[in-house]
Amino acid sequence: MATRAPLHGSKKPPAPSNSSLAPRALITLLCAVSLYFCFSLFRKDAPPPSFFYPVVPATTNGACNYSDGRWIYDPSIRSPPRYDHTCKEIFKGWNCIAGNKSNALDIIKWRWKPHGCDLPPFDPSRFLEQFRDTSIGFVGDSLNRNMFVSLFCALRKVSAEVKKWRPAGADRGFTFLKYNLTIAYHRTNLLARYGRWTGGTSGILESLGYKDGYRIDVDIPDGTWVAAPRFHDILIFNTGHWWWAPSKFDPLKTPMLFFENGVPVTPPLPPDAGLDMVLRHMV
Ligand SMILES: *[C@@H]1O[C@H](CO)[C@@H](O)[C@H](O)[C@H]1NC(C)=O
Ligand SMILES: *[C@@H]1O[C@H](CO)[C@@H](O)[C@H](O)[C@H]1NC(C)=O
Ligand SMILES: *[C@@H]1O[C@H](CO)[C@@H](O)[C@H](O)[C@H]1NC(C)=O
Repeated sequence: MATRAPLHGSKKPPAPSNSSLAPRALITLLCAVSLYFCFSLFRKDAPPPSFFYPVVPATTNGACNYSDGRWIYDPSIRSPPRYDHTCKEIFKGWNCIAGNKSNALDIIKWRWKPHGCDLPPFDPSRFLEQFRDTSIGFVGDSLNRNMFVSLFCALRKVSAEVKKWRPAGADRGFTFLKYNLTIAYHRTNLLARYGRWTGGTSGILESLGYKDGYRIDVDIPDGTWVAAPRFHDILIFNTGHWWWAPSKFDPLKTPMLFFENGVPVTPPLPPDAGLDMVLRHMV
């Protein structure tokens, strides 16, 4: 997860794929930790935590690097849980408790333990207070969607007056009315705009033997979140999984073809180099 000030410039929304990713284990726990990590960076009334600055060792001056730690099993925690399986926002197929997954109740007994300090449990009431009159956008793939759902369900449990809407091109969004806190999810697999590409009779890519693939404009944000920077106060990004999803971006049959300033990048780049280009442009 990273927070980035994005680049503007897209005009036309793309046609992103709608296929879902496989369920991911431990997603809820991951959410809690990552969210805490993200939001501690942006808390309005607190000074930036020291792990924000480089070269601070994990525990000097009471500072804590929340990214540096491990998962521990702790049977004593999370009862009652931050939210339960009745939260409507959880996808049916991903709702482990409602789906009777055998270890569903055990999963929430894992918690993230940073080395040298403790991560306090998420406090939804405090969070709502702290982020009054704020709008937070999650931009990314299903991992970020899970983060969003987890946060929504945890907040909804303590504040039920919610307006459902879709701000700024979001896939879904909610405002917690008593606090005027809006959270929204903007679906994008690659952050950059992309679509199918088919070769013509001439052109540099055709001359290199390419016939079919995906055109990825490394300098144009996906239309689903192009309006998000102007709308939200805080943006939380993720990308990664789809860059190595051969069922979609088959390296031989339908490779990723990167375009910059509207022209093909040559020689063609592998996905990891393309991802670097996208991140450079979106920073
Ligand atoms: C925090 O820990 C992570 C994971 O070990 C590491 O990548 C990062 O550089 C650390 N950050 C600081 C500021 O020390
Ligand atoms: C889970 O178990 C309950 C109780 O046995 C049952 O009523 C319910 O249909 C099951 N749910 C699924 C998705 O199998
Ligand atoms: C509600 O929050 C938004 C930011 O998300 C802010 O622009 C707006 O002024 C707030 N409304 C009120 C009535 O405070």
